[in-house]
Amino acid sequence: MRAVWFENGRVMMIDQRRLPHEVSIVGLDNHVQVAEAIRNMTTRGAPSIGAAAAYGMCLAGLSGADIGAAAGTLKAARPTANDLFYAVDHMVREIGSGSDPVAAADGYAQMIVDKCMLIGGHGSSLIEDGMKVMTHCNAGALATVDVGTALAPIRRARDQGKGVFVYVSETRPRLQGMQLTAWELNQEGIPHAIISDGASAHFMSKGVGLIITGADRIAANGDFANKIGTFDKALAARALGIPFYVAAPVSTFDFGTPTGEEIVIEERSEDEVTVLNGVRIAPEGSPALNPAFDVTPADYVTGFITEEGILGPGEIWKVKG
Ligand code: MRU
Repeated sequence: MRAVWFENGRVMMIDQRRLPHEVSIVGLDNHVQVAEAIRNMTTRGAPSIGAAAAYGMCLAGLSGADIGAAAGTLKAARPTANDLFYAVDHMVREIGSGSDPVAAADGYAQMIVDKCMLIGGHGSSLIEDGMKVMTHCNAGALATVDVGTALAPIRRARDQGKGVFVYVSETRPRLQGMQLTAWELNQEGIPHAIISDGASAHFMSKGVGLIITGADRIAANGDFANKIGTFDKALAARALGIPFYVAAPVSTFDFGTPTGEEIVIEERSEDEVTVLNGVRIAPEGSPALNPAFDVTPADYVTGFITEEGILGPGEIWKVKG
């Protein structure tokens, strides 16, 4: 099963809001429903958002809807992940040139999975037998249709027979680390432990060999946006001399955005911070701030693991299309 796919004229996706308790599948009939599923995070993670949007455009193409309007609706679903814009633009070109919408969207999803396989191969060279690796949020199969970006090198290293242990930071407030990454690692029998976000530096100081995160958007200078809390890890990694890698396909690079300053950071509802299991746990009258992402300056990145190889921050121009 993939995170997002097309079946019998519908866009299908795992409802990631219900994991790890229930593997629930939703079917969507039009691009407006797909846009809402991206907005409400039924599916999430930059490459899966891109694939969902590609399938949304496919539905728009099949139904004869206005392609420009459908593209606008899908692009408005969430602001930060570059893959959303990349995928929609790809599908506008494909549909405009007369491609079959289903074949084009299936091809897009498969392209992402193929790239993740390559990322896994390149990134596994960084993992030594017995290494402890830390990751944040979920950059696994759920976030990328299949395989993953940050989790791909870990999976490949395990398949190569290397012992690897993963520290999974819980990822407040939506808990993608605890609920999604831990679920994936559990399914595959990869040794891991969930840690609270605030425990990251503590465990880094006890012997983490490598940190790998995903990215939502990588600016032309190598600054990148990823799940809130990523920058804290990069700062701690620098202080402790731990290599910090970012795994992402070329669809996540945005050479039209010069630096991290210009990346639009999604602000989500304060309820995600203040409400737990439907009950407000913060004092009445205390507001909360809830940026979904932060920007880590390129200077903190040891390297970007892409399908084209591992590149230093000063080398990313090599993947400019
Ligand atoms: O808000 P989310 O869950 O969509 O955020 C996801 C992340 O920040 C991931 O780390 C990023 O999209 C990379 S996914 C391969």
